[in-house]
Amino acid sequence: MTKYTMCCICLFVCATAATKAGACEDADLALGEYLAAECTGCHQIKGQAQGMPRITGWPAIAMVGALRQYKSGFRDNRAMRSVAQSLNEEEMCAVAKYFEQVAKRGEKR
Ligand code: HEC
Repeated sequence: MTKYTMCCICLFVCATAATKAGACEDADLALGEYLAAECTGCHQIKGQAQGMPRITGWPAIAMVGALRQYKSGFRDNRAMRSVAQSLNEEEMCAVAKYFEQVAKRGEKR
């Protein structure tokens, strides 16, 4: 790696950190993708199917909100409650961010 490349990476990382705003900006997309495999067993990646609601294209913060509501029991659904209870805040963010990104990439997969 050249000094020039190092410099670019540094600039990029610093700029990203500086402009960071909103929720889940630190989300780990690789973790999100890994966790999403569990979700897509029920939810389709390409929208709504077999009575399962669409979960791509949600703003991450909205999905984290919904997951918290399932976890707390405010939203009452047995399947989603046990899914949500298995996730901590970091994992909820990661998976929510992943599904947000999937939609932005044109849902190809
Ligand atoms: C066992 C099947 C199953 C799995 C696995 C599952 N879900 Fe769900 N999910 C459902 C069902 C059924 C509903 C509709 C529940 C309801 O009516 O409240 C739902 C609802 C949702 C909703 C709310 C949709 C809406 O329109 O309000 C979100 C968000 C969601 N799931 C996200 C996820 C995520 C993220 C995962 C993976 C971590 C996941 N689900 C895994 C079955 C599942």
